[in-house]
Amino acid sequence: MRGGLPQRHLWIMFYSMTTNLKVFLKTYGCQMNERDSEMVSALLQQAGFTITDRENSADIIIVNTCSVREKAEEKAVGKLRLLVAGRQKTRRQLIVGAVGCMVQRMKAEIFRKVPGLDFALGAGRLSAAGDAIKKVIAGQRPIIDVAAGKPACEADTHINGDVSAFINVLYGCNRHCSYCVVPEVRGSEWSRGAREIIAEADKLIQGGTKEITLLGQSILAYGRANEVWQNGEKSKKGFGEPFPRLLEALDSINGLKRLRFMSSHPSGCTKELALCLSELPTVCPHIHLPLQSGSDRILKLMNRGYTTEEYRAAVVRLRRLIPDLAVTTDIIVGFPSETKEDFELTRAFIKDIGFSNAFIFKYSPRPGTLAAGLNDDVSETEKLRRNHVILEEQNRHSLKMNRLLLGRECEVLVEGRSKRNPNRWSGRTDTNILAVFEKPAGCRPGELVRIKIDRAEPQTLYGTPR
Ligand code: 5AD
Ligand code: SF4
Repeated sequence: MRGGLPQRHLWIMFYSMTTNLKVFLKTYGCQMNERDSEMVSALLQQAGFTITDRENSADIIIVNTCSVREKAEEKAVGKLRLLVAGRQKTRRQLIVGAVGCMVQRMKAEIFRKVPGLDFALGAGRLSAAGDAIKKVIAGQRPIIDVAAGKPACEADTHINGDVSAFINVLYGCNRHCSYCVVPEVRGSEWSRGAREIIAEADKLIQGGTKEITLLGQSILAYGRANEVWQNGEKSKKGFGEPFPRLLEALDSINGLKRLRFMSSHPSGCTKELALCLSELPTVCPHIHLPLQSGSDRILKLMNRGYTTEEYRAAVVRLRRLIPDLAVTTDIIVGFPSETKEDFELTRAFIKDIGFSNAFIFKYSPRPGTLAAGLNDDVSETEKLRRNHVILEEQNRHSLKMNRLLLGRECEVLVEGRSKRNPNRWSGRTDTNILAVFEKPAGCRPGELVRIKIDRAEPQTLYGTPR
């Protein structure tokens, strides 16, 4: 018997009816983790569990973790410890599991970090969550599974009816950027077969989905590492590269309103991709193109595989065909040896490109990465300062760009009630800016509406339906 838990037979009795067991999932990290959590929820539902959004009434809590920065790991470990401690204090019957990237990185070490944890599944083993729970109920704990794995049938693991859905198209990553833990936790790159992806999209759209975001760490490499396109099939416009061909095939599905993808790398920003962005009606005029640094010396140390000139050329190639293209980015400040001069080069380059939005991160050394061997010599205070400087400049720029839209009309895909103000509704422009507006009469989530913009903030537009 474990502290705070009943005798084993009572434990088994309590859990004998999985249909009554409620599972709450807490997700940290990126869109891939969101998609993974959705997949786990759907698989658990199929296995007879009930998914709840009320943490306090859950019988089982699963934390889907992220390893990208130390802070993300600290948050997940803190949450897991709280859950286990709370269970002991209240003598509550609660199963606590950790899944995802941090488990994959820490392996059995996670049980030392979180004593009392019931199960831990790595990033490729999420589909084993139901079995792990059943084993814990049967008294076999703790459970750990961090084998390399592929997910279960993805098409049947969506929660139906969402306006927007994610589809995984490329797993893992082969780029080996020196700061990044992803290749270690998500393994090397592999593409899903195009037919499987198209069938999944088709099913989602029949079920009411209007917007699809394709996911992959370096998505423009889709189909390159291992050939997935069957029988040398030709598409109607004859795109020769696998990712543009996939976009074209998805664009032609009836009922799809918007198609997005992330994240991109300059090497994949070809003329064909530009043609897709400009010609395919559902493909949104937005690209998330992480820059990371505007200093060529730092880019080389990061092993990013491009220079600032190559990055600029990629943006120019796209903007030539799509002049209003929204380009968003990620920046890391305080990478080992980043001097004030390197930082100034980054500031200047950001200004020069004119991003519509940027996500700024303080460098965090990750065990097992190449950069972990470099001296993390930029102080925390200086990292924070650099972070603030770029954030402030980017906010000013985003505000300036958004103000250009004042008095103009934008098309917005309605998502539902605004999270901040439930009396208003919200959605996104095709350039991925959040828009908040009065609910147009008779309007439902999933519809495209036109709104006139009458107020602008750096991250949000406010408007009135036309
Ligand atoms: N430290 C800080 N930021 C990181 N990112 C990835 N690894 C690290 C790290 N070790 C950032 C990159 C990436 C985004 C998802 O997270 O900017 O594009
Ligand atoms: Fe996503 Fe990377 Fe975090 Fe894993 S480590 S959840 S892939 S951001």
